[in-house]
Amino acid sequence: MQGKTGFTVWFTGLPGAGKTTLAKLLEASLRQQRLSVERLDGDEMRHHLTQGLGFTREDREENIRRIAYVAASVTRVGGAAIVAVISPYSQSRNDARGQIGNFVEIFVRCPLSVCAERDPKGLYAQAYRGEILNFTGVSDPYEDPLKPEVIVDTDQESPQHSLGKIIGYLQAKHFL
Ligand SMILES: Nc1ncnc2c1ncn2[C@@H]1O[C@H](COP(=O)(O)OP(=O)(O)OP(=O)(O)O)[C@@H](O)[C@H]1O
Ligand SMILES: [Mg+2]
Repeated sequence: MQGKTGFTVWFTGLPGAGKTTLAKLLEASLRQQRLSVERLDGDEMRHHLTQGLGFTREDREENIRRIAYVAASVTRVGGAAIVAVISPYSQSRNDARGQIGNFVEIFVRCPLSVCAERDPKGLYAQAYRGEILNFTGVSDPYEDPLKPEVIVDTDQESPQHSLGKIIGYLQAKHFL
């Protein structure tokens, strides 16, 4: 029996850009297609796999390394890993790409002002008041992906439209 080809869909973008929203939509869609899916969300990971890590460059890199390790394992056994983490550093994302192989990077693009306006968790307000340090976009860098497989502009598209672009890419590459 030939196994399915595993792959990782890696969502990167500013806080509030829409990574978790789109990752959940993609998860539901792939499950409906009977794929084995594992969604690895930054917030949840930091409560389990990477508990205790902070937001220095070193800790962010370690956070990504561990998540990439799990995503690589899921991919290797033919599953679909859906990763939704800010992952602000190009180097870390490229290391993950190299390790995982079938790597689909989605740049969840949204202007900082729109993300800060949405502020779904109230964290931008806290960061601007100086109550949170090292907050990506406000007091910590975010390096835009240079060659992502897909770019979604969440200030201009509906989540369903963004999802359609991602599914379309996965179909074109015969992952679905
Ligand atoms: N096209 C779109 N795609 C995704 N989210 C959108 C879109 N348009 C509007 N939104 C809204 O933007 C917000 C994005 O919040 P979400 O928690 O998904 O961001 P996030 O990138 O996971 O942030 P964080 O890094 O803090 O976890 C939601 O309230 C969502 O409804
Ligand atoms: Mg999120």
